[in-house]
Amino acid sequence: MIRARGVCFSFPGRAVLQDLTIDIEESLTTVIVGRSGIGKSVFLKCITGLLRPQAGSITIDGEEVVGSPRAQLRTIRRRIGMLFQEGALFDSMSVYENVAFPLVYHWAATGKEIDRRVRAYLDLVGMLEYVHAMPQELSGGMKRKVAVARAMILEPRYLLYDEPTAGLDPESAAVVESMMRRLQREGAITSLVVTHDIDLTRYIADRIALMEEGRISAHAGREDAFQESSAIYEHFIKNRERIRSENGSQT
Ligand SMILES: Nc1ncnc2c1ncn2[C@@H]1O[C@H](COP(=O)(O)OP(=O)(O)OP(=O)(O)O)[C@@H](O)[C@H]1O
Ligand SMILES: [Mg+2]
Repeated sequence: MIRARGVCFSFPGRAVLQDLTIDIEESLTTVIVGRSGIGKSVFLKCITGLLRPQAGSITIDGEEVVGSPRAQLRTIRRRIGMLFQEGALFDSMSVYENVAFPLVYHWAATGKEIDRRVRAYLDLVGMLEYVHAMPQELSGGMKRKVAVARAMILEPRYLLYDEPTAGLDPESAAVVESMMRRLQREGAITSLVVTHDIDLTRYIADRIALMEEGRISAHAGREDAFQESSAIYEHFIKNRERIRSENGSQT
């Protein structure tokens, strides 16, 4: 379980997370929604220790991330796969090297086992034929699929996905969605997904949390979240309908 308590994070001159509290429950998929720039990606980076909150606590299986030394962070990170919003492949490494990287970095495995896994995961996302390509030779969507394979390859207990389907064509989005679903069903995986994608949320979410003003303002099970009276439904559906009809009625 990932447990965040009173997390505060600021960039110089800009407060982003302000007293954020949430429990990411074990073996479930929690989706965080919220408007652009509110701090969703910043929160994911705080969980993995890439950004250091100024106050509060984030524990993963009871181990504190906030303020913990680098060596300890490294062992905690082994349990977490993260798909960055930017894709963030290493440009100087081939597709193969990118996907193998977490295994080489965290895992004492033989070259043969690494090779088998890298190829299996690239095959799952339909990118095996690009195994020796460099990132510059790939489209945005192709890079994203490689990044998904890289996030999943350690078969981590926790997977954090930042906009997993953004910029993908519908078929590629479906590949990624079904991989997420498969991992969700097969393993005891706890997933945290940040997305603006309503279809993905309906497909994957067990629980949905709304981030507003740097904190979690609503958190509900999927059924409740999609009730017309909920704040999450308001964020996802009503606001959009209102803005469309306001702007549409002006023309
Ligand atoms: N490296 C940085 N330096 C300074 N400010 C930053 C940095 N990264 C993000 N911010 C600011 O932190 C705030 C939260 O950014 P964040 O990327 O978490 O938003 P988000 O909720 O993920 O938005 P989106 O849905 O568009 O991805 C924004 O106001 C952004 O301008
Ligand atoms: Mg973001």
